[in-house]
Amino acid sequence: MNVPFFDLKRQYAAIRAEAEPAVLSVMESCGYIGGAAVEAFERRFAEYLQVRHAVSCGNGTEALVLALRACGVRPGDEVITTPFSFFATAEAIASVGAKPVFADISLSDFNLDPAGVAEKITPKTRAILPVHLFGAPCDMDALGEIAHRHGLRIIEDAAQAAGCEYRGKKVGATADVSCFSFYPTKNLGGMGDGGMVTTGDAEIALILRSLREHGAGKRGAEARALLDGGTAEAVVLRETAGGVDPYKYCNSLIGYNSRLDAMQAAVLSVKLGHLDAYNADRAKIAAYYSQNLCDAVEKPASRPEGRHCWHQYVIRTAQKEALCSFLNAHGVGVGTFYPIPLHLQKAFDGLGYSKGQLPNAEQAAAETVCLPIFPELTEEEQAYVVRQVNAFWES
Ligand SMILES: Cc1ncc(COP(=O)(O)O)c(C=O)c1O
Repeated sequence: MNVPFFDLKRQYAAIRAEAEPAVLSVMESCGYIGGAAVEAFERRFAEYLQVRHAVSCGNGTEALVLALRACGVRPGDEVITTPFSFFATAEAIASVGAKPVFADISLSDFNLDPAGVAEKITPKTRAILPVHLFGAPCDMDALGEIAHRHGLRIIEDAAQAAGCEYRGKKVGATADVSCFSFYPTKNLGGMGDGGMVTTGDAEIALILRSLREHGAGKRGAEARALLDGGTAEAVVLRETAGGVDPYKYCNSLIGYNSRLDAMQAAVLSVKLGHLDAYNADRAKIAAYYSQNLCDAVEKPASRPEGRHCWHQYVIRTAQKEALCSFLNAHGVGVGTFYPIPLHLQKAFDGLGYSKGQLPNAEQAAAETVCLPIFPELTEEEQAYVVRQVNAFWES
């Protein structure tokens, strides 16, 4: 038997009848950038999370960049984050000219250990950037307490956490600013790239909306005034007459072109209606694995005050390479997220980290194996995965 690590075709077949007319109607409307489909998806996503503002953008990496900029993170600032994540988390910090400062993780949930975060704070620290890795909520109480004590923002990377909860709130309504990716394999995945930033803060939302479209127009002038002080009126560059918008072609900030495509918004609106059901299916698979994998397997834990959304089901073993080879040889697809911790990535060699400095992240990178988990994985396939993993230990 062959069990794929992930199979997007099954989800497409299941939602085709809903998704195709939605995309077709965008095509027919000719409103390809912004417009009704994008606005509707932003509204639905905000309602789903119970958060005031949802600002869509090009992808999850840009969501992080926009969020950092909107929180006033500037060159020379420091942002404390996890070394065990997808590269984009720290890349976004570096790309706004700030310095990623890595604090170690806890091996129980692979997320930032708040105890280590507090030790890394310096006068240059502006924000903490936790990642709800694999869909497991971080310890937001402890991180929030540290942020509050030191006057720092929390920007959460929720790329893997659509539908995940912390103390009864959806992640995305649990930090100053939250960043989502709609990469196709995410719990809420588009049929292309896409991203979203959510916040309860109207000023941050305004800056986000401005930055995603070149810091242009009146909104750009208002965003500039919010970030740098002064008033929007002070940045108008030209006199106009006869009802001509004086802010048109007036750019007040160096921003980006980072917009969610209207066709993606239509697909995502359809899929959002299924997200809770998708996550419930993932949770069932995770429970089945946890009950049936043998005791030799180090299984993932989840925080009692949160609800995991099982983006990945990740086990840990000192025999990672052997287990992966065994599973591959027996037709089971596996993932190894993430084999190199961020502080040891070549791109960050300028930061001066060396091996041994963040031992838990390094151990996680050496030992984690991700098993197939997606809503359409059949019971027969789940049973086969369990049999093969257990067989590895028996052998
Ligand atoms: C934790 C994390 N952060 C950021 C990103 C970046 O998202 P995107 O690929 O949409 O740019 C991803 C996704 O790939 C991710 O998993």
